[in-house]
Amino acid sequence: MGSNTDEVVADEDQNVPTFVASLPVPNVQEMVRQNRLEVPERYIRNEEEMPKSTEMTHLSAEIPIIDLLLLSNGQEEELKKLAMACKEWGFFQAKEVLRNMKEAAAEFFNLLLEEKNKFSMASDDIQGYGHAYVVSEEQKLDWSDTLILLIYPSKFRRHKFWPTTPEKFKEIIEAYTSEVQRVAEELLGSISSIMGLEKDILHSMHRELMQALRVNYYPTCSKPDLVLGISPHSDTSTISILLQEDDIDGLQIRHDEEWVPVRPIPNALVVNIGDVIEIWSDGKYKSIEHRAVTNENKARISFASFLFPHDDVEIEPLDHMIDSSRPSRMYKKVTYGDYLRQSMKRRMQGKAHTQMAKNETRIPTPTFMSGPCVIVLSSQ
Ligand code: OGA
Ligand code: NI
Repeated sequence: MGSNTDEVVADEDQNVPTFVASLPVPNVQEMVRQNRLEVPERYIRNEEEMPKSTEMTHLSAEIPIIDLLLLSNGQEEELKKLAMACKEWGFFQAKEVLRNMKEAAAEFFNLLLEEKNKFSMASDDIQGYGHAYVVSEEQKLDWSDTLILLIYPSKFRRHKFWPTTPEKFKEIIEAYTSEVQRVAEELLGSISSIMGLEKDILHSMHRELMQALRVNYYPTCSKPDLVLGISPHSDTSTISILLQEDDIDGLQIRHDEEWVPVRPIPNALVVNIGDVIEIWSDGKYKSIEHRAVTNENKARISFASFLFPHDDVEIEPLDHMIDSSRPSRMYKKVTYGDYLRQSMKRRMQGKAHTQMAKNETRIPTPTFMSGPCVIVLSSQ
């Protein structure tokens, strides 16, 4: 306070959106450091939520791979593949090289808890280092710690939550997220095209294209079959872009009643359609439910970037996406800010699936198309 640097002005004066308060819970990484074998009751899932180790390799092999370069050149074939992928699955992977980010984050999470806690979340917000979405003492907890930052528009940044170790972390986050923003704009252009819109329409419908970064740290767990790294949810974003480690599994998507692993492809990004596109497309493009599991011997770090509209934007199905053979459209109009906060509350009440928030938004109709949902973007 008292200073008039841009940074302080940005932090204090910009009406930075706040999110939902979360209760303090143990740091999972620290718990594992102290006792590698202990798995407290608060983390042990009910039978039906427990991750099963059944692996559906044949399905995960079907995830389409789309080349971002070809997409940005507007190649017909790639656009078709993207269109298919958005309909049939919900995830895809884009190609980018992002080693700095992985190394810097690994170094950050390796710090002593005391160091990391210098950037810990405020009790009434979601930005910073800690645990989001905890509201009750009874709630089952995720086996993970997280760092969440609002990145774009840059006037919303809260610099006090940006780690200062490693020294270059800020610049690295900056470089990574500006790359993600670029890829996102590219993808929004292509998704606009396949939705039958002019290329710039989806982007402009955001008013301001917001980006939040969530860095997840999943410590090893001596009993990975009893806990979840992140509870099942769908993303409240327009699209999400995920960077994961090359050789460690964790992400799974729901396909019918099964959980299908999304195997990492080196130097690729996993992209998934979020709730906003599901609503704009009146359910034609799916925001797939997903979760993360943990590993016994390997900790895992993932980077999820969420691209979403300004709070005040009203979202509703686009006229031409509404299926005229159905008696009514599947979603009603909501303000994005209301939708986001309502979804967060539901998620915190243990009604994990944003699917449920969508049910409230959706005008009930007899048919709900629930297709399989994954797609991938290009490797190397
Ligand atoms: C998320 C998410 C999956 C992962 O952060 O929203 O779904 O693999 N993460 O970490
Ligand atoms: Ni997610």
